[in-house]
Amino acid sequence: MEIVVSGIRSTGNLHLGNYYGALRNFIKMQKENKCFFFIADYHSLTTHPDPAMLHVNVKNVLTDYLAAGVDPEISTIYIQSDVPEVTELYLLLNMHAYMGELMKTTSFKEKARKQPENVNAGLLTYPTLMAADILLHKAYKVPVGKDQEQHLEMTRRFARRFNNIYGVEYFPEPTAYNFGSELIKIPGLDGSGKMGKSEGNCIYLGDDPKVIQKKVMRALTDQGPTEMNSPKPDYIENLFTLLNVVSTPDTVEYFNEKWNKCEIRYGDLKKQLAADIIAVTTPIRERIIDIQNDEAYLRKVTKMGAEKARESAAKTVREVREIMGFKPF
Ligand code: TRP
Repeated sequence: MEIVVSGIRSTGNLHLGNYYGALRNFIKMQKENKCFFFIADYHSLTTHPDPAMLHVNVKNVLTDYLAAGVDPEISTIYIQSDVPEVTELYLLLNMHAYMGELMKTTSFKEKARKQPENVNAGLLTYPTLMAADILLHKAYKVPVGKDQEQHLEMTRRFARRFNNIYGVEYFPEPTAYNFGSELIKIPGLDGSGKMGKSEGNCIYLGDDPKVIQKKVMRALTDQGPTEMNSPKPDYIENLFTLLNVVSTPDTVEYFNEKWNKCEIRYGDLKKQLAADIIAVTTPIRERIIDIQNDEAYLRKVTKMGAEKARESAAKTVREVREIMGFKPF
């Protein structure tokens, strides 16, 4: 039973890649650990979102997580901005975070290149805020993808530095949560190796069956193989990878055989694939719709989450202040 903190970007709905890549594993992870899931809405401010969209984005992501099975009775699910303690820890950690190391961060350099007109201090100190999110609950494990490894490395460095400077063994040095071999990478239907929001090739968990059908039917294919048992080009392999994930082994076997005999009809394959994706997403989509319309439930969940998170956060901030020398008169 370890403390796990998982931060969720508040931009964009969840897609099949998120589901198989992480979300599905969270359902097991939350039973074996003390998990904090939060929606990183403060982080989203670095790109200046439209105020009218901020809340909508948070609501959408929260709904997707709840619908997919992250359970507010087992885990602590909260909105980052509902826990103001994080901003204090962020301020305190920033005093020991150096310009040089922040400016060298890959994500900062990338963002600075992408939005040269908005290289704000929040962008520069994004890793400190992320470290604050994690250290706020003294987490040992953080489920992150490759793109977040450097941020986690910096969190460890900030934790170590804090401990060294104040001569304490207070913060643990958190490492990546390892899902083992269960991680599945979902390819795109457009021939690209990855399903992703920036790739614009996603099947969303909330997509209507008709939309899913359309997206699958549009998947990149060709004239079909002309030689028996020939290797599959990447874009066809991608369809089989997806089929492997959502369909039965018999189905995969059937279409493999058709491929090998040069008898494959992509229309049939796509119809089957669409049907099986729809079977996976339908229960989730139905829950998304229910939750979206249940303001009272969302209010209850976020209130409960904020209370639980603030309890843990307040304790940490109190102890950190004490370590740093703040004292009441
Ligand atoms: N930076 C993470 C991302 O872009 C989101 C995040 C913010 C996060 N704070 C976190 C992830 C704390 C894990 C722990 O995906």
